[in-house]
Amino acid sequence: MACALVTGGVRRIGRAIAQELASLGYDLAIHYHSSSASAERLRVQIQSQGRTCKIYQANLERDRDILNLLARVKADFQDLEVLVNNASIFEPATIKNTEMELFDRHLAVNLKAPFFLIRDFARFVGTGNIINIIDTRMSKNDYTYAAYTLAKKSLADLTSMAALELAPDIRVNGIAPGFILAPEGASQDYLDKLKQKLPMCQQGNVKQICQAMIYLLENDFVTGQLLFVDGGQHL
Ligand SMILES: NC(=O)c1ccc[n+]([C@@H]2O[C@H](COP(=O)([O-])OP(=O)(O)OC[C@H]3O[C@@H](n4cnc5c(N)ncnc54)[C@H](OP(=O)(O)O)[C@@H]3O)[C@@H](O)[C@H]2O)c1
Repeated sequence: MACALVTGGVRRIGRAIAQELASLGYDLAIHYHSSSASAERLRVQIQSQGRTCKIYQANLERDRDILNLLARVKADFQDLEVLVNNASIFEPATIKNTEMELFDRHLAVNLKAPFFLIRDFARFVGTGNIINIIDTRMSKNDYTYAAYTLAKKSLADLTSMAALELAPDIRVNGIAPGFILAPEGASQDYLDKLKQKLPMCQQGNVKQICQAMIYLLENDFVTGQLLFVDGGQHL
């Protein structure tokens, strides 16, 4: 069976995506940054499902780590077919309060890494599917997460640009989640208020993100799409 690479794939949404791909029959190349114990547990769990699974540590703030990742995976899995750019940094700062270090980290992990992983997928794999995990915030101008939001806006544009350049061999699509998993440490009060602001008045879940991914993987006439899975938040 073909292999899928998921960045930031051992916790939260990335973990659900990796598990879903394993149950669809893919072998898994799972990237992580700091969650080594979770990565090892997930590797064992996916292998017990009868799939091959390897884990790859990389700090996607570093150019060298970005540039090595796809080559490392391709050396182990000649049949790499899917790339899911999921890893992300999400830290608040208005423009006024943004230090260059925070800006650079957000742009590196949330835009530069996906850009060069897409490039290397095109160079070294040549056919298949790429899915970029974006954010419904890309449709607004939330200056309280200025660097994050700008990186995700650019990732949405990169999705369209890459879809055009890489067709017909590689389809490139995006998923824009809304409120799926609360930031760690968020209070119940904050979460309840957030839900009430959404048209669908509810929190989403990782299953809905996986359903979007399956649709994008299976429908081979769809490329350059950004699928909002956000309870109408972008409206
Ligand atoms: N949570 C939501 O409701 C929501 C809403 C909208 C959009 N999204 C998007 O959906 C995706 C997943 O969301 P999430 O909340 O599950 O993500 P998350 O927990 O904030 O981060 C995902 C992973 O990114 C990895 N990462 C962080 N810094 C890194 C670095 N310097 N180098 C390499 N990897 C790094 C981490 O890996 P380690 O754990 O190994 O360090 C982490 O597990 C993200 O792209 C996010 O922007 C999520």
